[in-house]
Amino acid sequence: MKKYLFAAAALVLFQYCQPSQTDSTSSHGEDGWLSGTNDEKFDEIAHQLGGFSKTMVEVSYRYSELYWAGMDENWGYAEHQIEHIIEAMEDGLKRRPVRAASAEAFMEEAIPAIEEIIEAKDKEMFIKGFQAFTSACNACHAKEGESYIMIQEPLNRLSPVRF
Ligand code: HEC
Repeated sequence: MKKYLFAAAALVLFQYCQPSQTDSTSSHGEDGWLSGTNDEKFDEIAHQLGGFSKTMVEVSYRYSELYWAGMDENWGYAEHQIEHIIEAMEDGLKRRPVRAASAEAFMEEAIPAIEEIIEAKDKEMFIKGFQAFTSACNACHAKEGESYIMIQEPLNRLSPVRF
């Protein structure tokens, strides 16, 4: 008997989880803020995720944190930041694939170079390596016609993380 009850419950749950036919016009999200057809909802979500500018705001913050991590010789935090820079760049390039060609040297050379230095845990090497890393940011900005966004090493800390 128990076995049948379980099977019946599983069946109900399964049906409940299936997308319904009327799905394309019903609202979704908390308080149903996503409305319209499925295409309209996807467009809205894509718009909310943003393009490369949002990626850059995140990368810029993490670039700054990476710098202070190196200054503090907090290599665990440096590794954390570089990993998240890679992730943010990869996600950003998925949304804006036209930027990928300009980002190639940054992704294939500049990032592995700074990763190696972080692994070596050498502050002197880091100071030099970070200059090259910064140049790689600016090289892509130049290629993308954004030379007015000139990156320089940060002067101030952005977060309360200290070591
Ligand atoms: C694709 C190559 C590329 C690389 C690599 C790159 N950027 Fe950018 N960056 C851009 C583009 C394109 C924009 C303009 C984005 C827009 O407005 O849509 C930008 C904009 C920015 C902005 C302005 C963001 C805003 O809207 O306020 C900052 C800050 C920035 N980048 C920092 C950096 C830093 C720091 C690095 C290196 C760690 C870096 N970028 C590496 C392409 C790149």
